[in-house]
Amino acid sequence: MTVSRGLEGVVATQSSISSIIDDVLTYRGYNIDDLAEQASFEEVVYLLWFGRLPNQEEHKVFADELSAQTELPEEIIAHFRSYNLDSVHPMAALRTAVSMLGLFDDEADIDDPEANKRKAIRLQAKMPALVTAFSRIRSGKDPIAPKKGLSIAANFLYMLTGEEPNDISVEAFNKALVLHADHELNASTFTARVCVATLSDMYSGVTAAIGALKGPLHGGANERVMKMLKEIGTIDNVEPYIQNALDNKEKIMGFGHRVYKTGDPRAKHLREMSQELTKVTGEEKYYEMSVAIEKLVTGQKNLPPNVDFYSASVYHSLGIDHDLFTPIFAVSRVSGWIAHILEQFENNRLIRPRAEYVGKEGETFIPIAQR
Ligand code: ACO
Repeated sequence: MTVSRGLEGVVATQSSISSIIDDVLTYRGYNIDDLAEQASFEEVVYLLWFGRLPNQEEHKVFADELSAQTELPEEIIAHFRSYNLDSVHPMAALRTAVSMLGLFDDEADIDDPEANKRKAIRLQAKMPALVTAFSRIRSGKDPIAPKKGLSIAANFLYMLTGEEPNDISVEAFNKALVLHADHELNASTFTARVCVATLSDMYSGVTAAIGALKGPLHGGANERVMKMLKEIGTIDNVEPYIQNALDNKEKIMGFGHRVYKTGDPRAKHLREMSQELTKVTGEEKYYEMSVAIEKLVTGQKNLPPNVDFYSASVYHSLGIDHDLFTPIFAVSRVSGWIAHILEQFENNRLIRPRAEYVGKEGETFIPIAQR
């Protein structure tokens, strides 16, 4: 048996959804750079699920189908209100809420392609509503229904704040959603595929994936990046803070990647947005500090920033609470999880690797009364 720690380099499945080849990321053959610059998030979701870009009519029908399914069961809102809202992390609330959504879906356990498509739309549509409802409830406000005619990106910001966002914010948020939508066999997507490969249901797969995304080595890194930026506080403090962390062999959140070696192609888009948005808010220091951190970490460790690094200052500039950064990742990545769940169902085989046993052998059992 050859063990690959963390399954590094192991090719576990075939997929036609997204690819990372020579550090270039594509969704269904389209370069992420083109999609980030030109596509709406709705178009990207359609592309991931159905394998091709929608025409204008298909785009409109799809967007309407999504916006018709945003309503949340009252019981989930009541559940949110019952939590200790000072201590519950929104990712934990989201994980539980998605699991609960399955309890209110009569088709949750019906496994046929049409029912799966309906569930996909319901799940994708309700994710932004869940995150924004939780956020409002914990600040003592009532959830807001989405506004008809607004995109998913615009509606997210609207449901969060109650105000229609400006064009710059919508464009930036849409781009962030596009950039986070899918990423080959990342940890949370693999988790979703392992789960549904037992022929479990879509809600179980997405719930499991949210649990995997929550960790700081994966999606949870974006919140930690902002925590680090706040701790550093000033541009002058970047050098001593980062040097000390590197000397102590601490991991710098938002840097490094299992697959990319020369750089994460999503980071440059977020870096540009960070520069633009911090100018608008007058908090250029977060962009400048980020650039200085990148210089040090990449210079000394040859570790380029990943998608999480500049997304922190982007979301902060949009006025979003820092512990909502990872739930926003989930609002986008659920599209990729669902695409992979559907692909897994199409050609399923149980995912069951082996472990090399390194424990004791030949132990003699002593009955409990004699122990
Ligand atoms: N800061 C400092 N050193 C690092 C970092 C980092 N961010 N990332 C990797 N290294 C170092 C490790 O200490 C290790 O050094 P060593 O060989 O001297 O012990 C070496 O680089 C290899 O690191 P691993 O953790 O083994 O690399 P792996 O491929 O397992 O991990 C990961 C990739 C988890 C992304 C890692 O780079 C990391 O922890 N980064 C910080 C967390 C983060 O940003 N996660 C988000 C990733 S993107 C995403 O999921 C959306």
